[in-house]
Amino acid sequence: MQAEKLEHSLATSSAGRGLPVAVRGSGCRIWDREGREYLDACGGAMVMSLGHCHPRLVEAAKRQLDQLTFTYRFSFSNEPMAELAGLVREIAPMQRASAFFNSSGSESVESAIHMAILYWQHLGKPGKIELISRYPSFHGSTLGALGLSSSRWRKEFELVLEKNAIAQVAGVDIRARRSEADELRFGLEQIEDAIASRGPDHVAAVFLEPISGASAAAVVPPEGYIDGVRELCNRYGVLMICDETITGFGRTGEWWASSHWKGRPDIVTFAKGVTSGITPFSGMAVAENVAEVFLAKPEGFAWGHTFSGNPLGCAIAAETIRTIRDEDLISRGRALGERLRAGMETIAASSPHIGQVRGKGLLQGMELVTDRDSLEPLAGASGRLAGFAKELGLMIYSCSTPLGRRTLEAVMLAPPLIVDEADIDEILAKLSDALRKFDACPHAETA
Ligand SMILES: Cc1ncc(COP(=O)(O)O)c(C=O)c1O
Repeated sequence: MQAEKLEHSLATSSAGRGLPVAVRGSGCRIWDREGREYLDACGGAMVMSLGHCHPRLVEAAKRQLDQLTFTYRFSFSNEPMAELAGLVREIAPMQRASAFFNSSGSESVESAIHMAILYWQHLGKPGKIELISRYPSFHGSTLGALGLSSSRWRKEFELVLEKNAIAQVAGVDIRARRSEADELRFGLEQIEDAIASRGPDHVAAVFLEPISGASAAAVVPPEGYIDGVRELCNRYGVLMICDETITGFGRTGEWWASSHWKGRPDIVTFAKGVTSGITPFSGMAVAENVAEVFLAKPEGFAWGHTFSGNPLGCAIAAETIRTIRDEDLISRGRALGERLRAGMETIAASSPHIGQVRGKGLLQGMELVTDRDSLEPLAGASGRLAGFAKELGLMIYSCSTPLGRRTLEAVMLAPPLIVDEADIDEILAKLSDALRKFDACPHAETA
C-alpha cells in the first residue's frame, strides 16, 4: 500500500493528522521516511525493553520462522512455549509459578479476570464475582479490562460496562499532600472498605498496577502498601492480581515492580516488554495455589485466544528473558534509571510547571501543574509538552487521565534497558529544551 493512502486509513490512532511515516528502527531510535531521527524515550507506549529490532530477538524470530510459527492450543503444545513457561517460572515473583500466554496486555487482563472468577467457582464459591481496582488506572481496552480502568477511553462505554461488579477505589493524588504514613493508611482503607462493603463472599480479586503506568505516570506506592494489600487479600480470601503489563521485564529495576516489596501476587499479567515489540505477545504467571486448582481439572484452564502460546511469540519472549539475563540489563537499567531520575529532578527544579517527579528504574514520570502551590493539573499540558519534545526529535509518553473533576496531566519516560549514558544525557538535554519551550508558551498558563 502506498504510504499516502496509509496516512488516511483508520489504521493509525491519528488518521488524517499527518503522522510521520516510520520506516526503520534500531536501538532507541526510529527514522521516518524523510530521514528524520527520533530518540525513542518511551518505547511508543513503554513497549521497548530491548529497543527496536534487537539483533538477538530478530535472530530468534528468524530461526522460529523457519521452523514452526503456529500451533492451536487445543491441538498441540510446542517447544518454545514449554521453554518459555520454564523461564517465566524462574523469574516469576511467586515460587513454582505456572504460565499462560496471550497476544496483548488487555487479553492477559481478561484472562486474569476469567481465572479469578473460575477459581472461586471451582472452590465452590460462585458468588465471588466482584472485582476491585483503583483510579487512576489503565488495564486495557477490551471491555473487562476497560471496566477495571479509569481511563478517558471508557467514557463512551459507561452504559455498556457492568459497573456494579467492579468497585474502583482511590489511588494516589498528589494534591491531597498526605504524608507517606497517611497515604499508606488511606490507600489500604480504600481497599479494605471496598471489600467489606461488597462483602468478602462476593469479591474475587483486587487488581492493581504495583507502580502505575499509562494512567498516572509512574506513581510508586508508599512503603508497606503492596505488603498491606497482600495482607488484606489473605485476610478476606481475595486474589491479588498485579498488572505488570508496563512494569514487568526489568522496567523498574527488578524483573517485576511487585518484587520491590515482600507481598507476592497470586497472578501477574505481563505484555509489552516481553518481546520488545518484535511481535504482539503477553501472558500471566500464576501462583501454585491458584494454578493447582486448574491443573486438577481435566479441562485445565480452558480459556484463551487463537494465538495464545504461538511458537513465534514464545521463542522471541524466551530470547528476551535470556538476553536480559546474559547482559545483566536489570542492574544496568537500575543504575541508568538513577541517572535519568537525577537529571529529571534538576530539570524540574527550573520549571514552575512540574508538580512531582517520580518513578523507579527506567520508568520515570513528571506531573504537570499550573503551579507548585496549588498543584492543580495544567489542562492539555501533557500533549503539548510531548508535542514540543517530538519537534525536537524526542519521543515521550503523554498521560492524561480523568481524576474526579480534574484531568491528571503527566508525561512519562521509559527508554529501553539497552540505553547508555550518552543516550540518557541526550534525552535529558532534549527534555530540558522541550520544557523551556513549553514554559515559554503563553498557553501553558491559560489552557
Ligand atoms: C497496565 C496496563 N495493562 C494493560 C494494558 C493493555 O495492553 P494492550 O494495549 O497490549 O492490550 C496496558 C496498555 O497500555 C497497560 O498499561
